[in-house]
Amino acid sequence: MNKRVEAVLNEQIEKEASSSQFYLAMASWAESNGLNGTAKFLYTHSDEERFHMLKLVKFVNERGGVAVIPGLSTPPKEFENIENVFQLLLEHELGVTASINNLVDICLQEKDYTTHNFVQWYVSEQLEEEALARTILDKIKLIGSDKGGLYLFDRDLETSAIQAQNAAGPQA
Ligand code: FEO
Repeated sequence: MNKRVEAVLNEQIEKEASSSQFYLAMASWAESNGLNGTAKFLYTHSDEERFHMLKLVKFVNERGGVAVIPGLSTPPKEFENIENVFQLLLEHELGVTASINNLVDICLQEKDYTTHNFVQWYVSEQLEEEALARTILDKIKLIGSDKGGLYLFDRDLETSAIQAQNAAGPQA
């Protein structure tokens, strides 16, 4: 496969793996702070990021490249509050979108239309993930310091995590 495309695909593998670890750290924080629905949502999201990584690994290998499995830095253990968690999540996803857009650009520059076609799945996925993160952040801002609102919000996130899991079915 084209070496420049292979290199950026491997960079993307690292970013998806880091996303999975980052959201796993957030899930663990939420779980130990009594936000079990939020934790469930974030554990599911972490699994989805691992799936994004695996999909890239398999694509690179199937096309004759070599997928590089990265070592990862330790994500944060502590977060200020739930708003901080989802603010960081949104910022992280904006960074991932920028790197996917760069990947699309390089595919076009190198006339690698097969990879370009493959990457379109990630372009759509990023749109959905950014929209979801913004919606959740808006809700958190509405809730403010209302404890009852936070309880209901946490319960709703658990429901949406279960629905996402059921919709995804067995992955990879
Ligand atoms: Fe795979 Fe959330 O980016």
